Amino acid sequence: MNVCVTGGAGYIGSHMVRVLLRAGHGVVVVDDLSSGHADALPAGVPLVRADVRDAVAVGRALRDHRADAVFHFASRIQVGESVINPRLYWRDNLAAGIALLEAVLDAGVKRFVLSSTAAVYGDPIRVPLDEDHPTVPVNPYGATKLALEHVLADYARAYGLEYAALRYFNASGADVEAGIGERHDPETHLLPIVLEAALGKRPHVTIFGDDWDTPDGTCIRDYVHVTDLAEAHLAALAYIGRSGASAKDPHAFNLGTGRGYSVREVIESAKRISGRDVPVVMGPRRAGDAPVLVASADRARRVLGWEAKRPSLDEIVSDAWKWHSRA
Ligand code: UFG
Repeated sequence: MNVCVTGGAGYIGSHMVRVLLRAGHGVVVVDDLSSGHADALPAGVPLVRADVRDAVAVGRALRDHRADAVFHFASRIQVGESVINPRLYWRDNLAAGIALLEAVLDAGVKRFVLSSTAAVYGDPIRVPLDEDHPTVPVNPYGATKLALEHVLADYARAYGLEYAALRYFNASGADVEAGIGERHDPETHLLPIVLEAALGKRPHVTIFGDDWDTPDGTCIRDYVHVTDLAEAHLAALAYIGRSGASAKDPHAFNLGTGRGYSVREVIESAKRISGRDVPVVMGPRRAGDAPVLVASADRARRVLGWEAKRPSLDEIVSDAWKWHSRA
């Protein structure tokens, strides 16, 4: 198949491109490089440097490359920023997503996979989180992703669009073989911050609260290897091709390992694997954090036949470390 990957020069998108190529698919990337990096793409992969709202450029990319599907990664991803400046999120995640879907429908492309997030659930009332957990996002980031899921549900019913919304938990790790990894600016995610502290690129890691109701007092998250996330998209593509657009089929899937690790456990793993010290400073809780976010990945296992092949935290940290500490 031929897949158009929006945000293909970004962290998860660039890993997706590798997984698609290894599986023998054709790829065209649409990325405006506002946060992605052109050098995260392998030589020879066509890059259309355009905003996803650019209907002419996107339409041409879809037609010229005979796209069978669109994987939509391009979006803003910072929870804190979304609270301070929500217009960026409603504009660049929801409005831009709707504009992209115009081009997708106009080009007759029938398959669409959305990068969604565990943030659609809001404060958990039960853990692990399954897909039937109430969706009450507590920040604009989660709200914009959920709104786009609703748009997709309507378009599936009305226009026969076949789609899946993949709700990522904490994407981490790197594709060591391909020489790509996590590169955000600014970096707000725990693991890269911990590894930068191990490398002396930061003076310390601040732990956002150790008075949570968890065994060691720090927050617990479900870290999932970025290559496992990318592989889930192939399973989702095969699934939506099989199931068609039936409204009764499940469309939302959690992508996690089902296993949670605390902030302290991540730091301990990083110390072990790097052999370096990680200076730690205790800070206050971060607004908007939930104590425990762990996926039930049963639906993805049952329906998509997907499960994380690299579920161990040490393996994730090890791959991330190899990338961060590269010469
Ligand atoms: N943390 C620290 N110190 C830091 C950075 C993070 O203690 O310097 C803690 C956070 O408080 C949290 C954990 O480490 O408990 C993980 O934080 P991240 O910022 O790495 O990730 P989040 O769990 O906040 O967010 C992730 C994705 C979001 C997504 C969310 C869904 O990055 O895009 O999961 O729940 F919305």
